[in-house]
Amino acid sequence: MAKIYSASTTAPVNIATLKYWGKRDTKLNLPTNSSISVTLSQDDLRTHTTASASESFTRDILWLNGTEESVTGARTTACLAELRALRKKLEDSNSSLPPLSSYKLHIVSENNFPTAAGLASSAAGFAALIRAIADLYELPQSEEELSRIARQGSGSACRSLYGGYVAWEMGNKEDGSDSRAVQIATEAQWPDMRAAILVVSAKKKETSSTTGMQTTAKTSPLFKYRVEVVVPERFKQMSKAIEKKDFEVFADLTMADSNQFHAVCLDSSPPVFYMNDVSRNVISLVEKLNSLAGRIVAAYTFDAGPNAVLYYLERDESVVLGLLKAALPDLEGWQKKPAVIASVPEGISSEMYDSLKEGVSRIILTGVGPSPQKTGESLVGDDGLPK
Ligand code: DP6
Repeated sequence: MAKIYSASTTAPVNIATLKYWGKRDTKLNLPTNSSISVTLSQDDLRTHTTASASESFTRDILWLNGTEESVTGARTTACLAELRALRKKLEDSNSSLPPLSSYKLHIVSENNFPTAAGLASSAAGFAALIRAIADLYELPQSEEELSRIARQGSGSACRSLYGGYVAWEMGNKEDGSDSRAVQIATEAQWPDMRAAILVVSAKKKETSSTTGMQTTAKTSPLFKYRVEVVVPERFKQMSKAIEKKDFEVFADLTMADSNQFHAVCLDSSPPVFYMNDVSRNVISLVEKLNSLAGRIVAAYTFDAGPNAVLYYLERDESVVLGLLKAALPDLEGWQKKPAVIASVPEGISSEMYDSLKEGVSRIILTGVGPSPQKTGESLVGDDGLPK
């Protein structure tokens, strides 16, 4: 077997606080509005990917969590073609480089969280894929340039190339060259942001985000107002709140934007539902907690599914997690924080959180984290197959 070249990386999940919802170009995957997200720690949620290339490989293959996945879809094809073209340019200018751009790729990818949890894994997946291949090819391109490629795999993936607090600027050029992610603040600049993910079981298959956002963009009258009026203003306010580390403004906008995203989903024809009764109960509980505290201690946000993500600051951990532990004492996930004492603030009735017991299956306690990390741990064996 000819020499195998390889590079490995881990990449994070990100959860949007200002939602991307709507495409103005489906081929280039260009959005109708800018968005903002927080990158989560890879200790708890990450995709680990090894990209390898060899003259001996006969076709491009991707194994995800042990199963072979298609690499012939339009999105993956577009990403691979762009990365190969960049590598080819390097090879053309330096003939001593091995011709990796002409070799087939074997890519092995693993998530450290259960796929069944229904957590958006396409962002971490495409970010890891792009980063690992860029490292394998020794590409000099910046994160910003790579984010334009990742965007074509899955929109939200472009934000997972950075750690901390990230904006995807929609851009307005037709060729998409100005639609890319930039960092608003590093994880070190605002390190005390925590996230609790409540995994809520979905009974029926959800509408994929790609399909859901197309329906909304085509049919919702409210959508136009959202992208033209609400989001541009919110984008400025949220960026500023992050720069100033103003949690209350950040949290207030995060909840408002989650609610508006689900409102335009409901305003679509046919309507698209992602939250369920358990999700709505989480909203009521957080709203009540904030009103009892007299300030915003936690923010909820929901993506294209019923799972809740709560953002809060480390200083308020005991009040936020104490309430969650009182409501959900037996969940898998509390092992991480054995010191949390279950406590219910006066004014919250047990009916408010009783219903959560049925619907929440797991809690993932995490926080803001860094960008993709190179690792020496390869998932590809000497035979070019998954280890
Ligand atoms: C609700 O990035 O999954 O999570 O570009 O079609 O792959 P595609 O969509 P995707 O959509 C994410 C939607 C969201 C909001 C967000 O992450 O901003």
